[in-house]
Amino acid sequence: MSLYQPVRVGPLTLSGNLFLAPVAGYTERAFRSLCVEQGADLTFTELISSEALVRNPAPTEPLLRRAQNERRYAIQLFGGSEETMAQAASIVLAHKPALIDINAGCPVPKVTKTGAGAALMKDPARLARIVAAVKKAAGPDTPVSVKIRSGWDAQTINCLECAQASVEAGAAMVSLHPRTRAQGYEGRSDWRHITNLAARLKVPVAGSGDLYTPEDAQRMLEETGCAAVMFARGAIGNPHIFSHTRAHLLGRALPPTTPRQRIQAAFRHLELLVQDAGETKACLEMRKTFCAYVKGGPGAATLRNSLVRASAVAEYRHIISRHFDDEEDAVPPNPLLKTPFDKTARP
Ligand SMILES: Cc1cc2nc3c(=O)[nH]c(=O)nc-3n(C[C@H](O)[C@H](O)[C@H](O)COP(=O)(O)O)c2cc1C
Repeated sequence: MSLYQPVRVGPLTLSGNLFLAPVAGYTERAFRSLCVEQGADLTFTELISSEALVRNPAPTEPLLRRAQNERRYAIQLFGGSEETMAQAASIVLAHKPALIDINAGCPVPKVTKTGAGAALMKDPARLARIVAAVKKAAGPDTPVSVKIRSGWDAQTINCLECAQASVEAGAAMVSLHPRTRAQGYEGRSDWRHITNLAARLKVPVAGSGDLYTPEDAQRMLEETGCAAVMFARGAIGNPHIFSHTRAHLLGRALPPTTPRQRIQAAFRHLELLVQDAGETKACLEMRKTFCAYVKGGPGAATLRNSLVRASAVAEYRHIISRHFDDEEDAVPPNPLLKTPFDKTARP
């Protein structure tokens, strides 16, 4: 039997088990759209503040929008108050998410000191009350899930208790990133906690942590018995990981992605971001992300030095075109570009 399998989350059936994890600052809808093109079966927005949403929804609204091709997406909310989280859930329902996800793993002090994110794991009963309140607001058609860590720190590993409390309160899926809040994003994730949850919970468990290749995904599915895998840092600059993992799990491996394919994906990402955010903002936001697309390719360090200064689409095209001098078609045609890059104008 293939490891690529549908996943049932309450009333929702997802066609497969390859998810894009929420990654703040990276998984905006332009990138999610590329991941869906490459076969992601479920995508997550980055964490969205329930407080900000309830106070004044307008500025947060762009973060909630789905991409045109994004049939199934989860909106992730964070907050420490039951009432506010429930109100926020009611607001986001207008976007018809497939799932509302509760962030119980964010380690950032700005978030935890308000009682939100990973701080919810310090009080499983409060976490459960928030799950119940969000579930009530979401209604019977929109399942609710929770994303947790292994615990607050090495002395307080309580992911099983938090997961069980969440499921009893109505969570239809639990995602686990098995590092503690104290670990942040350092060190290796301990997949044994995923194995434990997958064996004990009656709902699907999605595993997160150290997924960089199709082989990693295969190993996590095989070793832990989790229902789904969530790519996070492994997908940044590499949306192809979805098509490659699916092919790998189905026993028909694809040839490795070439540097040129990755650059073409980067330009497509930039194009979509320009449509959403305008050229100036998109180009600034894309600096770090564009570097991720060229990572490991020829002359990546030199390229990075130029890319982190780019502030217009034409500049990105110029930098790449100059770098790949002998590969004239490295830069794809760009319909968005008002003043197409003129190769004769190269310094
Ligand atoms: C920069 C960054 C931002 C993240 N933002 C979120 C977030 O908004 N919500 C969330 O639940 N997890 C967030 N995560 C955690 C990831 O979803 C994932 O669980 C974690 O990175 C472990 O997977 P990895 O080791 O494969 O990267 C973030 C991680 C990183 C590195």
